[in-house]
Amino acid sequence: LCRFPLESVRGVPLMRPIAENFDSIWEFNPHPLDLLIATYPKAGTTWTQEIVDLLLHNGNAELCKRAPTPVRSPFLEIVSPKPIPSGLDLLNKMDPPRMIKTHLPIQLVPPGFWENKCKVIYVARNAKDNLVSYFHFDRMNQTQPEPGPWDGYISKFMRGELAWGSWYDHVRGYWLQREQKNILYLFYEDMKEDPRREVERIMRYLDLSLSDDIISRIVALTSFKNMKENPMSNYSCIPTHVFNQSISEFMRKGEVGDWRTHFTPDQSNTFEEDYKNQMKDVDIPFRDSV
Ligand code: A3P
Repeated sequence: LCRFPLESVRGVPLMRPIAENFDSIWEFNPHPLDLLIATYPKAGTTWTQEIVDLLLHNGNAELCKRAPTPVRSPFLEIVSPKPIPSGLDLLNKMDPPRMIKTHLPIQLVPPGFWENKCKVIYVARNAKDNLVSYFHFDRMNQTQPEPGPWDGYISKFMRGELAWGSWYDHVRGYWLQREQKNILYLFYEDMKEDPRREVERIMRYLDLSLSDDIISRIVALTSFKNMKENPMSNYSCIPTHVFNQSISEFMRKGEVGDWRTHFTPDQSNTFEEDYKNQMKDVDIPFRDSV
């Protein structure tokens, strides 16, 4: 096992096994009932997957446990003798409707998702918290490129040199096409502020109608505390040579504004100056980032 180098696919740095497999990813033809959950890494993917999984199973956690989603596949693949880094093989063995996760920026999402009018949920998280979370993830995930020192990591983030490319392009790309492509665009900060409201929003988007009791149960099961204790969501099943959670836990803090304990005032000013410039053409209502 090693930390994968990055290779550019149409200008986006991806981890080598994914870049090498990109042609077959691009050709993947989903079923119209498949659901895509798309995020920049560390924006709240696992949380959203857990909510969606429970919504689709009427709040029955046992059913979710019996049907682990392709979300877990990248890790199964890495530890399997024959790596299948794209998750495609596993996906092709499953029956639709499938819940599929991706960190690809919108221009690299297989066109079949749009042709088949699949539902797509995007989750965005404010840049600084997203960066902090990614930094700790890169420290502990032994397959991601080395994060290097904190100050340099901020620069790499600003330049879009981390795996999956530029955060700025990522959040902007899905934002600009959300209406035309019927994408549900969620914010991590909204989920923290009022999880029930956001669970209900997802439920409506999925054309589901669950009872108040079941919604309450889903909200409780997907609290940070419960997910941290749940082996299906805390990734304790991933061996330590892949996820070294003694360096940093997967379910690390789950807070809004943790960037304040990481950025110096100088780093914060530089970041904000650059942010204004990179985001000047788009007005995405991020909160708690300054
Ligand atoms: P932190 O590193 O800031 O704690 P992803 O699933 O996209 O990799 O995102 C992981 C981030 O989401 C981590 O952020 C993790 O703690 C947070 N997270 C996961 N489940 C959560 C929950 N139920 N409530 C709040 N935050 C959650």
